[in-house]
Order: sequence, then structure tokens, then C-alpha cells
Amino acid sequence: MQGLRKQNQGSGSSVHILKRVTGASALAAMLVLAGCRQDMHDQPKFFPQRGTDFFADGRSARPQVDNTVARGQMHDDAYFYTGMQNGGEGNTFPFPVTLAVLQRGQERFNVYCTPCHSRVGNGQGMIVQRGYMPAATYHSERLRNAPLGHFFNVMTNGYGAMPDYAAQLTPADRWAVVAYIKALQLSQNATQSDIAPGAHPETLSAIAEREGMPASFAGEWEMPRTATSMAGLDDRPVPTTAAPTPPPTAPSATPTATPAPATAKPVPGAAAAPAAGKAPAVATTPAKPAASSAADIAAGKEIYQRNCQVCHQPTLQGMPPMIPALIGVVQRTSAAHVRSNVTNGVPTAKPPMPSFAAKLSSEDIDHLIAFLSSTGSAEKKP
Ligand code: HEC
Ligand code: HEC
Repeated sequence: MQGLRKQNQGSGSSVHILKRVTGASALAAMLVLAGCRQDMHDQPKFFPQRGTDFFADGRSARPQVDNTVARGQMHDDAYFYTGMQNGGEGNTFPFPVTLAVLQRGQERFNVYCTPCHSRVGNGQGMIVQRGYMPAATYHSERLRNAPLGHFFNVMTNGYGAMPDYAAQLTPADRWAVVAYIKALQLSQNATQSDIAPGAHPETLSAIAEREGMPASFAGEWEMPRTATSMAGLDDRPVPTTAAPTPPPTAPSATPTATPAPATAKPVPGAAAAPAAGKAPAVATTPAKPAASSAADIAAGKEIYQRNCQVCHQPTLQGMPPMIPALIGVVQRTSAAHVRSNVTNGVPTAKPPMPSFAAKLSSEDIDHLIAFLSSTGSAEKKP
């Protein structure tokens, strides 16, 4: 070890000497060369910040020629860059609004504005719900009538408690967001003149009334606010990895011909059996004849599409956390739970789930349950 280190040191210092020699000769060479070229040093020139008597104003640094513009900053279309016209906020778009512009606006809006203004622009974004100063709703009378340039101006310069978004959004993107805000406003307050001839606008409350929804349906929806109300959404029975054993007292509680999920061990009769916690509810429910036919499932699917998909979505994926997914809901909860929800609704939920007692017969609900059971638990990986 010792010998090795000595050797290293030895070779290290010889490298040093070599470096010093080359360094010295390079310096000498530079001095010699510099001696031959004095002209660049001696040429007449201005020193920074020093005056001159060459120009009449005595300044050596010359002002820019009038109307000089830095590269890429030729903002000759003042309206496009400011939203201001004749000293006030303008009310036109500086370029035609196409579907592509609207889509860009929607995408940028959802990135930058929804945290405070929410996806529907009602000012109830998540940050506001967590205590930030309430952001404006775009659906107020004043903002519905505000000129387009106002929205551009707010994004460019900020407004009261709202920070500006000039750094995040290019001017073209800001105009695209303005276009999308207009679309959001129209989505809530369209008049006949705003839409194609032949179509007619309807208010959400009119639709809700016609569909027999609770009166509060068209009101403001609130997200669950507290830990307790969130817990309310989550305290449903969770499917367990172990296949539930069919309760011996309710052997006929298997209404469907659900194909067994490929990953789970097929337990005869277990597919639609309730999770352990729900067993009593099913045991007290009149059991449905076993094995629903493909026709039952198809009928249930149609009933679902007519009545349920507006909220639970055509994909059955719901809109969590407000509206639960229904994929495999029968397996996850129980047929009785589904029947009870459909029959009684959930008036306390926000938004409330309406009761379908007046609309759907008991047989309709059987078909619904058959359809929902057929969505199985295959997609749900517990
Ligand atoms: C960090 C939260 C926040 C974000 C993000 C945000 N805003 Fe705001 N916005 C506010 C608040 C708060 C107000 C109310 C300001 C006030 O009245 O002092 C407001 C007000 C507004 C107003 C109404 C101005 C008026 O005349 O009353 C518009 C328009 C607006 N925002 C547009 C936008 C757009 C467009 C975006 C996305 C580019 C956006 N905001 C992003 C918080 C936000
Ligand atoms: C207006 C919106 C709306 C409509 C329409 C609607 N639901 Fe619901 N549904 C809800 C909401 C909200 C909940 C959550 C209720 C809660 O918090 O307990 C829910 C919950 C349920 C549940 C309980 C899910 C679970 O995981 O416990 C079932 C089952 C259900 N709905 C079935 C249906 C069926 C079937 C239809 C059609 C006949 C339907 N719903 C139509 C809003 C709706």
C-alpha cells in the first residue's frame, strides 16, 4: 500500500512539472504575439458611460431609432395584446372562433382556472372550498354582460384577489379561454337566438321538474366538505378478495347468470351473493327466481339508459365522489340495496338521487338488477 502511494505521488509530480513547462512556454508565446499587434488596443472607440463631443447631444451611447422593435415583440395589433379598444374594454374577438379554438380554451381553462372557478365556472373550485377567497361566478348578470375584453384584461392584469395569468397563457390562449368562458355562460343561460333554429333551450329546473327530480336538483351542487360527509360516501361494503360464501338461509339469492370473473374462483351461487355485512338485508328480501335471461338483462339495460345514465353515466362509472359507479354494484352491496335506492331515492344525498317508485314497476327494477348484476365484478380488482 505504502509503496503504491509513493509511486503515484512520483508520477503525479512529474505531470505537474510538465504542465508548468508548457504553461510557461505558452505565456512566452502570447507575450511575443501580443507585442506584434497593438492596433486593436489603440483604435479610437467609446468607453461605456463616457461622453463624446462627436455627437451634438454629447452622448456616446445612441438612443434607439424611433419605432425600433425587439425581435418577436412586434405587437402591432394592440387589441390582440391588450383587449382594449378606444380606451375601453373591447367586445369582439381578434380572430375567428373555431371549434379548435374552443377546445384549446377548454383545455387551458381546465388547467388554470378550475382550481378556483370550478369546471362549470361557478366560482366554487376546490381551492375556494378549502378557504381561498371566493372566486367570481361567471353566471352573474354583470359578468354575462361584460365585454369580451374584460375577461382578457382580467387574465392579463389580474383582478382584485385574482392573480394574473399573463405568464402562463399566451395572448392567443387567453382569447381561447375567453371564448370558452362565453360557452360556459351560454350553457347556463342560452336564449332562443343563441341556438340553432329547431332546437329550443330548456332550463335545468324545467328538465328536473319534468323528470320528477327533487326540487333541489337544479340548485347549486356542493362537493362533500367534511371528513364525515366523505366518510358517508366510502362506508359501503368493500369487496373482499375471498369469494363470499352464499348464506345458507337464502339459497335463491342469486338472480343472475353472471359469467364468473376469470380471475376469481367460480363459487356456484356466489356471484350475486351479498358481502358479509349486507347479508341480513338480503335474507329479509323476497328472493327473485334464479337465473335471469339475456332478455331480462337487455330490458334492464334499456331501463338503465332511459333513467340512470344521466347521473351514473353510460359507462356506469358515475362521477365520483358525488355519484357512485354502478359497475358490479349488486355484488359489491346487494340486490336489496339497489332496489331500495331505486325505489326510495336518496333525498339526503348531494345531488339527491330521485325516487323511481312512480316510474318503474317492480319488474322493471328486477330487470335493472339483472342488468347491473351482469356488469359483474370482473372489472373491479378488489
Ligand atoms: C387562485 C384562484 C384563482 C384562479 C386560479 C383564477 N381565478 Fe379568477 N378570480 C379569483 C378570485 C378570488 C376572483 C375574485 C376577485 C375579486 O373580486 O377580488 C376572481 C375573479 C375573476 C373574474 C371576475 C372579474 C370581475 O369582473 O369580477 C374573472 C373573469 C376571472 N376571475 C377569470 C379567471 C380566469 C379566466 C382564470 C384562468 C385563467 C382564473 N380566473 C383563474 C381567483 C382565481
Ligand atoms: C339525479 C341523479 C341520479 C339518477 C338519475 C340516478 N341516481 Fe343512483 N345515485 C345518485 C346519487 C347521488 C347516489 C349516491 C347516494 C348516496 O350518497 O348515498 C346514487 C346511488 C345509487 C346507488 C347506490 C350505489 C352504492 O354504491 O351504494 C345505486 C344502486 C343507484 N344509485 C342506482 C341507480 C339506478 C338503478 C338508477 C336508475 C333507475 C339511478 N341510480 C338513477 C344519483 C342518481
